[in-house]
Amino acid sequence: MKDIRLVAPDTYWIGASDRRLAKFENLFPIPRGVSYNAYVILDEKTVLLDTVDQAVSRTFFDKLEACLAGRGLDYVVINHMEPDHCAALQDLVHRWPQVTLVCNSKTLQMIKQFFTFELEGRTQLIGEGDTLCTGKHTLHFAMAPMVHWPEAMVSYDSLTKVLFSADAFGTFGALNGNLFADEMDFPRDWLDDARRYYANIVGKYGPQVQALLKKAAALDIQVICPLHGPIWRENIGWFIQKYDLWSRYEPEDQGVVIIYGSMYGDTQEAAGILAGMLAEGNVKNIAMYDVSVTDVSYLISEIFRCSHLVLASPTYNMGLYPRMENLLSDMKALAVQNRTVALMENGTWAPMAAKHMRTALDTMKNITILEPSVTIKSALKDEQEPELQAMADAIISSLN
Ligand code: FEO
Repeated sequence: MKDIRLVAPDTYWIGASDRRLAKFENLFPIPRGVSYNAYVILDEKTVLLDTVDQAVSRTFFDKLEACLAGRGLDYVVINHMEPDHCAALQDLVHRWPQVTLVCNSKTLQMIKQFFTFELEGRTQLIGEGDTLCTGKHTLHFAMAPMVHWPEAMVSYDSLTKVLFSADAFGTFGALNGNLFADEMDFPRDWLDDARRYYANIVGKYGPQVQALLKKAAALDIQVICPLHGPIWRENIGWFIQKYDLWSRYEPEDQGVVIIYGSMYGDTQEAAGILAGMLAEGNVKNIAMYDVSVTDVSYLISEIFRCSHLVLASPTYNMGLYPRMENLLSDMKALAVQNRTVALMENGTWAPMAAKHMRTALDTMKNITILEPSVTIKSALKDEQEPELQAMADAIISSLN
């Protein structure tokens, strides 16, 4: 008996979750695990859409064999060649040597780079707008370059109106039995991880995501089957709208996230006092993080969510506190833009952090820096209350 699930007529989910992996891409903490989704269409021909990560390949092959129930495998469509989806490809070809690999030319080059198996007579190259008829079903292919690698593409079944969306519309988080987003409290339990996945994995490629959304808008999509996380069959527009905001670098919330670095607690104290002033000024849902103890992927996600950002940093070796420097470097790499930022610096003999943060922010698009920044020399003094209050007032008035 296998956990194989019908997601649309003739269309089955045969994915699996990994709850042991500590870090996705050996980089992003995933305390809730991650799922690797793969799908099968049983038509006159049999079609597999993507494989899985090596970690769950045994479960995947057991499910694939059970799903095929003795039939051969005619096609594997490779929507994305990153190893979290294609690691099982070589083993797949050994088990079903007659299978035809359906992929684009960039994918083919990557297959040659990753694997050693013979490709001659085994591939069907497709491009934008090409189709694959398998009997009743016809798959239509659309390229989705840089969502999230250059070869990425999506497949649309015009019979069932299912979009196999590759990494797009995916999320961190293992599946807990429920497979469909409408079976979960997605905004409460999944949205933060979906945003963190988006911002850190494809955040840099907003224009390319916008291009994919334009292609998707021309289709009648009833179901979205991503390669990670829940499947969407209800309220699809709600999630597409999140993708639209994120890929235009527009905030979801008019709100403030305060991110501070603090070596001995003094910058933290000042950040806390500012947060209290904001609350007194009726700012709701203030978020606050210590840059030293929060993985940068969570900070990036919060920056994608919030309209306003407070960065507070000690000066370190005449430069920036290293964890704050790393955050700014990640913000730049992920093309963060359209945000309002207030700056606070600390330094015992030569405060320089605000200058360095300003220089880093100047390299990003459409960042408004609220003036003036606040300088602390070692510890905040009572006489600086008006400065801090002025910063809180500037944030509050720009929120309204
Ligand atoms: Fe889920 Fe870009 O791989």
